[in-house]
Amino acid sequence: MATKRVRLPGPPPSAGSGSTLLTIEFPVEQPFLPTREHARFVEFAEACAHYRYIGVCHGRPGVGKTRSAREFAKFPDLTGYGAMDPIGPALAHQIAQCRAVFYTVAISNTPKSIDLLLGNGVLKIGFARMTVATGSYEGATYEKARLACPLVIVDEADRLTIKSLEHLRDMADRHGFGLILMGMPGLEKRLARYAQLYSRIGFVHEFKPLTETEMRLLLATHAADFAITFDPTDLDAIEAQAAVIRITRGNFRLMERIFAQMRRIMTLNHVEAVNTEIVQAARDCLVIGSGN
Ligand SMILES: Nc1ncnc2c1ncn2[C@@H]1O[C@H](COP(=O)(O)OP(=O)(O)OP(=O)(O)O)[C@@H](O)[C@H]1O
Ligand SMILES: [Mg+2]
Repeated sequence: MATKRVRLPGPPPSAGSGSTLLTIEFPVEQPFLPTREHARFVEFAEACAHYRYIGVCHGRPGVGKTRSAREFAKFPDLTGYGAMDPIGPALAHQIAQCRAVFYTVAISNTPKSIDLLLGNGVLKIGFARMTVATGSYEGATYEKARLACPLVIVDEADRLTIKSLEHLRDMADRHGFGLILMGMPGLEKRLARYAQLYSRIGFVHEFKPLTETEMRLLLATHAADFAITFDPTDLDAIEAQAAVIRITRGNFRLMERIFAQMRRIMTLNHVEAVNTEIVQAARDCLVIGSGN
């Protein structure tokens, strides 16, 4: 058991001074971990694509909705691609893997902006899929291109204005794609106010946090991505792991934030072994709201 008091990080460096040695940053996205909740999401998304229904997926902030949906969709970056441009082998591979158009609603959104960004995406991926499948643009029409896109996933759907929602519903009808609206808990209740849209909702899916058992299974892998090791033969480490599970309650974002703080505190204190004091000190540095 550590007897020394844990040193906490000081105030952040003043503006413009840049990162200090103790500021640990993780700009690179951590590797994707296949979870049960992801498997449930895949099953839900496949059903929406198959029946071309509207589905609603809601979950608390940070549980992993966006990451799971992006992992499922594998929507390639088509910025530089114009419908009917030649497709190189690398892009062809990405297009063949793509299962849905992934679209994040901007804070300010209108039917026009949705048409411009999402409508174009649907057509582009439709044309590209037809070309990759048949090897040529022969016979490719706008109608066929629309049908070649089975699913659209709309993230941050809470931001949609009434007009944008109506427009999306109309697009789904006209193009015939399945549509998943993803957002915070309560989204499904808000949608209940719009009768035409609501009557088209086939499935509602709650994206849940990780269970305690699954967290135990994943924790070691995910902690290692932050250069933290929970030694299963060390009592302090086992207690520290239990504390992380208790504090983060299966929330991915909280897990990442607490690991980043733990790493920072461990560097500051020149220690490499984890214990509950380090977890507690890291927890004290975080703002954990009731929504997490
Ligand atoms: N299966 C996973 N494997 C690895 N990292 C994950 C996984 N799921 C989520 N994460 C990470 O957890 C963090 C939060 O995930 P994400 O942004 O998907 O949450 P969210 O539910 O969309 O939150 P919000 O409601 O705030 O948009 C991200 O940094 C993400 O990369
Ligand atoms: Mg999200």
